[in-house]
Amino acid sequence: MAHKAKNIHAQTSSTWMKRILPWIAVLAVSTTANPVMAGTDVAAMETKTIAAFHKDSFGNRQGNAVRGKQIATQACAQCHGAEGNAVSSAFPSLSAQLPNYLASQLMLFKTGQRRSPVMHAIATNLAAGDMLDVAAYYASQSPGKPYESTNAELLAHGEKLYREGDLKRGIPACTWCHGPGGGATSSIFPRIGGQSPIYLEVVLDVLKTKQFHIQEAYVMKAILTNLSREDIKAVSEYTSTLTAAKPESTR
Ligand code: HEC
Ligand code: HEC
Repeated sequence: MAHKAKNIHAQTSSTWMKRILPWIAVLAVSTTANPVMAGTDVAAMETKTIAAFHKDSFGNRQGNAVRGKQIATQACAQCHGAEGNAVSSAFPSLSAQLPNYLASQLMLFKTGQRRSPVMHAIATNLAAGDMLDVAAYYASQSPGKPYESTNAELLAHGEKLYREGDLKRGIPACTWCHGPGGGATSSIFPRIGGQSPIYLEVVLDVLKTKQFHIQEAYVMKAILTNLSREDIKAVSEYTSTLTAAKPESTR
């Protein structure tokens, strides 16, 4: 299975670069005007791509899912669930998430480059090897049930934004990077399908207000500048109903 994921990554990363180029301009503008995380000297921090950040943090080491399960049971299950399906809609599910993304986020929490007081305290106690192990464990788990939405109008607006974007307003389709079923199009993007609408709204607000500091997060920030509150609510509602468990093609 790891082999398959690698192939998907190889195919999609070059097409992704082509798709991303128009966004580099937006990105450059948004980074120069970037307000700073309180208490962090962002100027002194090198902004890296997720891939480079991951390599610097972990090299080529692989996680051990058996050891990761022990860590998950002791330190994570109370919020993220024993199998990675969150115990409440305030927390993200980690099941079936891409292991590189999971491990990188843990390191970002530890260094403060992604701000969350709760996760900072937890990640501080994890060594790089622990992060890889727990990421390997949660990545190997099956996703839980997606959300069911009863708000047809909100869902329709969210679906349109997710699938087509709104290029006149500078919003690309989310499918480009996150996949039509929310399973991501390559291992450098997160799987977002089936997360609770509440978590999605919160994390999109956090991204919009620039409390992440890693190169690709600026892409999300640039996109989110063009999304209204109502857009964020609608696209969160729609994303919560998606079910893809693995990286998929863009269509
Ligand atoms: C007390 C509850 C709690 C515990 C325990 C906890 N987390 Fe979290 N976790 C959170 C919350 C809340 C967030 C959302 C943070 C944010 O973005 O504001 C989060 C976010 C995350 C994310 C980012 C997910 C994403 O989709 O971007 C990862 C990865 C993560 N946690 C891993 C872990 C691991 C691994 C452990 C155990 C070592 C753990 N967490 C323990 C509450 C918890
Ligand atoms: C060009 C690629 C790209 C496009 C298009 C894109 N995203 Fe993202 N998205 C990313 C990347 C990269 C991250 C991870 C940021 C990081 O961790 O630094 C991300 C992160 C996220 C997260 C946080 C995931 C988590 O688990 O915490 C959400 C939610 C999200 N995107 C939703 C959307 C929505 C909704 C759209 C469409 C309006 C969209 N994205 C369009 C690349 C993209």
